[in-house]
Amino acid sequence: MEITPISPAGGAIITGIDLSRTLPADTAVGLKNAFLEYGVLAIRGQDIKDQDQFRFCEVMGGLATRGKPLDQREADGDAAYDGAVHLVTNLTEDGIPLGSFGDGEVWFHHDGSFKEIPYAATVLYGMAVTSVGGETVFANMYMAYDRLSDDLKSRINDLMGLNIYDYAARGRVDLDQDISDINHWVHPLVIRHPDTGRKALYVSPLITARVEGLPQDESDALLEDLFAYQNDDEIIFEHKWEVGDLVMMDNRSITHARKDFPAGEPRMLRRTMVEGVAIGA
Ligand SMILES: [Fe+2]
Repeated sequence: MEITPISPAGGAIITGIDLSRTLPADTAVGLKNAFLEYGVLAIRGQDIKDQDQFRFCEVMGGLATRGKPLDQREADGDAAYDGAVHLVTNLTEDGIPLGSFGDGEVWFHHDGSFKEIPYAATVLYGMAVTSVGGETVFANMYMAYDRLSDDLKSRINDLMGLNIYDYAARGRVDLDQDISDINHWVHPLVIRHPDTGRKALYVSPLITARVEGLPQDESDALLEDLFAYQNDDEIIFEHKWEVGDLVMMDNRSITHARKDFPAGEPRMLRRTMVEGVAIGA
């Protein structure tokens, strides 16, 4: 296995491994360590099926499904993996979308930050990619936190944020409506990564809608300040997709966004998630 860093802000290209086979134990340990160190792993040149991607997620911490716990799934066979795969695609069949997040730009976010127990990681496998655009951009949120002024750090250290996402709206949610049926959860603005122990800024323009306990105008102004730290070239890096890339990103220390791409060009990524643990300040 070869590890090549992508940028000073993080990310690493991994070559020399084959995810269509069971990974040797020492390779798995090496991958887990690299994941925590670099935040994003881009494993090139893979030819893998759903089951291979499930096995990879299990090795990296546990495959998240919408259904049953791990021990019941094995006993029940393939059907037990229902809900584990989500297609990120603009493709349609008979006019019906095959997946979601079809076309266009997507703002920075952590996948699943609106859940009580957010996913530890997102795993995407490139099945169809566009000729230009569609890059996934990553922001290192350890670095975002480190770059805050001491005043700002102490101001936000004990504050909580409302994280909410409406799949139907695909943008910031209007908080004047009844939100009880929209996915949301309150998490600290600053979290301590459960594996590395490092502090990371835990806000994003797509999903963090309000700072709890502040008047709306103060909340909006504070969030705008914090979002600006994410748009800093020094903490950002990106991945240009090729078919056969498997990219794994840490949803505690990294936010991601998508650049626009030509409408009409097919794009399909197979997404699976790694289960997380509770996060806190
Ligand atoms: Fe995402």
